[in-house]
Amino acid sequence: MARRIRALLAAEASLADVAVQGWVRTRRDSRGFSFLELNDGSCLANIQIIVDAGIEGYEELLSATTGAAVSVHGDLVESEGKGQRWEIRAKRLALVGPAAEDYPLQKKRHSDEFLREIAHLRPRSNKYGALFRLRSALGRAIHDFFHERGFVQVHTPVITGSDCEGAGEMFRVTTLDPDAPPRRDGNTDYSRDFFGKPAMLTVSGQLPLEAFCLSLGRVYTFGPTFRSENSNTSRHMAEFWMVEPEVAFADLADNMTLAEDFIRYLLRFVLVECSEDLGLFARFVDKSLMERLQNIADSEFIRLTYTEAVDLLCSSGRKFEYEPAWGRDLQSEHERYLTEEHFHKPVVVYDYPRDIKAFYMRCNDDGKTVAAMDILVPHIGEIIGGSQREERFEVLRERIRELGLNEDDYWWYLDLRRHGSAPHSGFGLGFERLLMLVTGVTNIRDTIPFPRTPKHLEF
Ligand code: 4AD
Ligand code: MG
Repeated sequence: MARRIRALLAAEASLADVAVQGWVRTRRDSRGFSFLELNDGSCLANIQIIVDAGIEGYEELLSATTGAAVSVHGDLVESEGKGQRWEIRAKRLALVGPAAEDYPLQKKRHSDEFLREIAHLRPRSNKYGALFRLRSALGRAIHDFFHERGFVQVHTPVITGSDCEGAGEMFRVTTLDPDAPPRRDGNTDYSRDFFGKPAMLTVSGQLPLEAFCLSLGRVYTFGPTFRSENSNTSRHMAEFWMVEPEVAFADLADNMTLAEDFIRYLLRFVLVECSEDLGLFARFVDKSLMERLQNIADSEFIRLTYTEAVDLLCSSGRKFEYEPAWGRDLQSEHERYLTEEHFHKPVVVYDYPRDIKAFYMRCNDDGKTVAAMDILVPHIGEIIGGSQREERFEVLRERIRELGLNEDDYWWYLDLRRHGSAPHSGFGLGFERLLMLVTGVTNIRDTIPFPRTPKHLEF
């Protein structure tokens, strides 16, 4: 197998007879030889290749334009030119796949909107290559964080029969004929569907995760989640990835501490391990990126109750599009005011009104609020949502009834409260929102390989 360019560029000494394979970034022809800048996706940097006229494949090379796939054999030698330590002196080369004349990534920089339209090619650009390497590295750091703390990963199901958030934003999964579904008493007869009942794509792995939390103690799930909310914003998608830990015998304060440690750990990780790719974003996307990431990685987060947050917003003297008021959900403009303008650091807001939060959150003694928390960060707003769960059987059953949910759908969830129930807490971190924070990218569609949003399913 060919060597990776990343490894060759970090070589200690010259190497004879190496092979590299990748895509041409640029080709320059001189009298008697050509320069090739080759990238194989292993890192941001290209490797320079000197191709002398007359070697095997040279004629072919002269038709290799930007975007073409090539395979090169040669020696890794100290470069005489400026800007790189190593280069390859080619001994033979092959044009594996030419690029057509209309290869769209000719220029150095293109708009994000344009690149979104060619999402199948955008990872070949410097920016998106860096982004998707960062995405992969952060995925690994997430597993490391939980592994180091003794958490067990659980693969929670993607197809589900229950709505975790109770928000009714679910995609249906069915094999019924959409043009002629079986009917019974005027309704679609789901007893004749694949599962014999309505089935949906999950909005969160939390409920099944709780079952494993109350057996394995510390667990997490990391996978795709789906929401059919029709909000065409720069922070929402119909398909996104969520990391969800769940900890037995942990209360809301423990949950906030875990979430804070988690975010700081991930930012420190990228600052140390991904500096080359991160540097691209600091140079071209957001000049204040490094300072912001370092600031979050080093800071204690502010903690304040929802009630305190609303008071603060109301007395801020700021004119908001949506007037803040106790009992209403915080809007993105409120979240951003708190974290960007007022505190200048991440903010944990907790103890939200029970009427605006999900059924599973633990009711506080005041009868008005639940033990919920959201973490807000500059430039994004909410990045984490979590809570202590209602572990008391009667209280939970009452909540389910009160909200008009079907008790039978949650029989097993309630059953967990009948057998060794214990206080437990967890949260969900939106993986793409984390990537927005880490890169400074302002549109969530640019943090996932193939974004799914309302009226958009191209790839
Ligand atoms: O606040 P949410 O809805 O919380 C839950 O789903 C809980 N069941 C998690 C838990 O306690 N285990 O979603 C969690 C996070 C949000 O804070 C946000 O970062 C992200 O998921 N998120 C989205 N990201 C992209 N597109 C969307 N449509 C998102 N909806 C939520
Ligand atoms: Mg939320």
